[in-house]
Amino acid sequence: MNKRDTEIIKGVLSGNGFSFSDKEEDADIILFNTCSVRQHAEERVFGKMGMFIKQKESNPNLILGVIGCMAKFYGKDLFKKLPGLDIICSPGNIHNLKNDLEEVMSKKESISDIKDTILYDKYNCLSIRDSKISAWVSIMEGCENFCSYCVVPYTRGKEISRSLKDILNEVKYLVNEGFKEITLLGQNVNSYSCNGSNFIDLLKLINDKTNIKRIRFTTSHPKDTSSKLFKAMSDLDKVCPHLHLPLQSGSDKILKFMNRKYTSSKYKCLIDNLRKIYPECNITTDIIVGFPTETDKDFRNTYDLMKQIKFDSSFIFKYSPRIKTKAFELEDDVTNSKKKERNNKLLELQNDISFCKNKKYVNKKINVLVEARTNKKIHTKQGSKSLKNYIGRSLDNRLIFLKGSKGLVGKEVEAKIIKATPHTLIAIESNG
Ligand code: 5AD
Ligand code: SF4
Repeated sequence: MNKRDTEIIKGVLSGNGFSFSDKEEDADIILFNTCSVRQHAEERVFGKMGMFIKQKESNPNLILGVIGCMAKFYGKDLFKKLPGLDIICSPGNIHNLKNDLEEVMSKKESISDIKDTILYDKYNCLSIRDSKISAWVSIMEGCENFCSYCVVPYTRGKEISRSLKDILNEVKYLVNEGFKEITLLGQNVNSYSCNGSNFIDLLKLINDKTNIKRIRFTTSHPKDTSSKLFKAMSDLDKVCPHLHLPLQSGSDKILKFMNRKYTSSKYKCLIDNLRKIYPECNITTDIIVGFPTETDKDFRNTYDLMKQIKFDSSFIFKYSPRIKTKAFELEDDVTNSKKKERNNKLLELQNDISFCKNKKYVNKKINVLVEARTNKKIHTKQGSKSLKNYIGRSLDNRLIFLKGSKGLVGKEVEAKIIKATPHTLIAIESNG
């Protein structure tokens, strides 16, 4: 979400005569697009911003801004926390940044732009996308699930879905621009709803009415995920075999405290159904360790469930207390060293599982969408020195380092896997 917003910010600025500097020292304007999900990220912004505020003493014309979730979350309090800050702008208002900057420059006064206006104006702006091959497409904003640890409902606001027509037009535009893959973005894509159409309708529409080659989506909430989705994923030829389905915890007590609205056995049933309906689907997840009151036994439940399910990969986070959230009322009673220990245990388990799964691909041929050249040296016994090094993704979202002929960026190629690591596959372009 944040990365997508940064692409829009870059588009808004470059479309209005601003240019980008590679070095902070050369910049007249420094904007931070921020995330509030974990405290650590915020601390880094406060630290760096503090440094730039000091620089303002010798360069009073320097304009400093905080954009995104922290702007929305702290509002005007940020001016007190960071005296010298010029702009705060919430995620819903980034399309106004040109006006905000002009106002600051002409009036020499700070400005707060945090009262969200029409939500989807920002998606009508031209953006500068990081990739020319794979694009993020936002289908909705906000979240009303109020998981007890999560700040997003307070920073991104109420859930609003974009219209089918706008999304379809964006995908068609991307196809015309040469993009091969899209990832539909939302905090909870399964609750997409617009004029009677749901997420599955949207998937079908994009699958049938556009020439995009690969369709991905993230994130799904288990409470809104069902066999209907799994069936649609398996039936729709362009929808990729990958589901990111955050589990968060394997303990029913913790899941209840987290307000996740499912139990560990309900989650396990979902996975069993998915594997029955769509066996080749890659399944990934998010886990939080050290949520308040998490005992060794609760952690064991998470560990055991992960061992049973065998996710293809997972993101593991240490619980970070966030003000305003319900969980903030609970004592953060799992020590940092305990959180670290549990985090490491799950990482180790996941590494073993991922490695085991990746090894099964060795000597197989798979389809790879080549995204970019890479400077990373790829060592293969086969193939001549004239082959180029590329990075790409398999249909099921595995990261592939590929050796192949010239000019493969943007192409789907058949590749033979020659080596596996826990997190990547090494491949060589196969000539049939
Ligand atoms: N502490 C730790 N992890 C968190 N996440 C969200 N909020 C917190 C928090 N307060 C994690 C969840 C979510 C992912 C995007 O970030 O696992 O799925
Ligand atoms: Fe946060 Fe829960 Fe919404 Fe995801 S579903 S954004 S974890 S509140």
